[in-house]
Amino acid sequence: MDLSQYPLQAIAEKVGTPFYFYDGAILNQKFAELAALTEGDRLQCRFAVKANPARKVLEAARAHGMWIDAVSGNEVLRAKRAGFAMGNEPPVVMYTADVFRDNALQAVVENNVLPNVASPGMIRELAEAGYRGPIAIRINPGFGHGHVQACDTGGPSSKHGIWYEDHATVKSLAEEAGFPVVALHAHVGTGPQIREFDENMKKLVALFAHLLPYYPDARAVNLGGGIPHPYRPGAEPYPLGEYRGILQEGVRQLTAAAERPIGIEIEPGRYPVAGMAVLVARVKDVKATRANEKGPGNQFIMVDAGFNDLIRPAMYGSYHHISIAGAGQDRTPEPFVVAGPLCESGDVFTRDDQELLQPRDLPRPEPGDLLVLHDAGAYGTAMSSNYVSMGRAAQVYWEDGKASLIARRETLDDIVRMECDEAL
Ligand code: LLP
Repeated sequence: MDLSQYPLQAIAEKVGTPFYFYDGAILNQKFAELAALTEGDRLQCRFAVKANPARKVLEAARAHGMWIDAVSGNEVLRAKRAGFAMGNEPPVVMYTADVFRDNALQAVVENNVLPNVASPGMIRELAEAGYRGPIAIRINPGFGHGHVQACDTGGPSSKHGIWYEDHATVKSLAEEAGFPVVALHAHVGTGPQIREFDENMKKLVALFAHLLPYYPDARAVNLGGGIPHPYRPGAEPYPLGEYRGILQEGVRQLTAAAERPIGIEIEPGRYPVAGMAVLVARVKDVKATRANEKGPGNQFIMVDAGFNDLIRPAMYGSYHHISIAGAGQDRTPEPFVVAGPLCESGDVFTRDDQELLQPRDLPRPEPGDLLVLHDAGAYGTAMSSNYVSMGRAAQVYWEDGKASLIARRETLDDIVRMECDEAL
């Protein structure tokens, strides 16, 4: 995002820092790209709500003809509130999970959305809850890879889905319960390398071509999400045009293998939203430690955003590009660690995936300057928390040269609202 086009200082004065800043034009452009990628009868894109469940994001997804991948009862209901059709003809909303929790089973049964079964016991739970309808089955295909081990969702170490060699057991359970299996699904990792992603998609098509003859009611296979986003400056953007070729070839192969028309669905979360948002923090101070027998000294830029706002660097060692807006922005870069307000030494935005500090060359800011963490639209607000009772950051949406507040900062009253003292 080119920050010079936005009045970030003026917005910071109005809503306070830190805040998330979304550019609606980028969001709409990304959804338009996904719509073009899946243009045609047998291709459909779902948006994985978990990446960013904001109402504006869901509305943009709907306007571009996306369907929904929901992973909780409340994600189903947020999609409903944003105007997505319920029911399974067609299955606009699919609920994917390994475990039903809270209102998930109820949301599925009451709204008749397609459950994507990823643990065998879910079939019994659905039947007992009175569900009568089609299901999808999530397969663990035995391979996969993500940007870190924790985001690898295929293989023997993954808890997700039904192991591919055991699918027949779940098929029998579905038959006994009277649930037609209308789709087969797999999601094998989030944030892989570009070539690896392409290879994995082709391998999934081959696996589904082998499985489809066992599932006479299946009309679609779903290849999951995982389209890579270029977080580092100069990183190659994923070539969506090539993916379209893989999808079209996939439809041809699957239709031939099943001897009936088969469609392909995909469900990216990160791709449409990662690049449309930044997290804007205020520089509060600049300080340093000195070398001693324990290690070298470091210079710290202290900001008012922490891992409660954006957890990806602390949790995965993820890279987010950082820039400075303000008096210091044109100074010669020096190595700095960027750290937040939490009482944890891991509250650092410049880390590697070995949990070590990784100082970044940045211009020396002045206290009061803004420090901007880029590409924060995916798994940013969605994974934020109110740890240490700091309210979740405000969210600002920019469209047609105008800013609007789409989520205000969480207050103390919001935070304590569920506290109670009720006899049980
Ligand atoms: N479908 C399913 C079933 C998923 O579990 C996921 C992501 C997606 C689709 C979307 O994947 P994407 O297109 O966004 O790569 N918190 C991590 C990412 C975890 C994603 C979990 N599942 C991060 O910040 O990188």
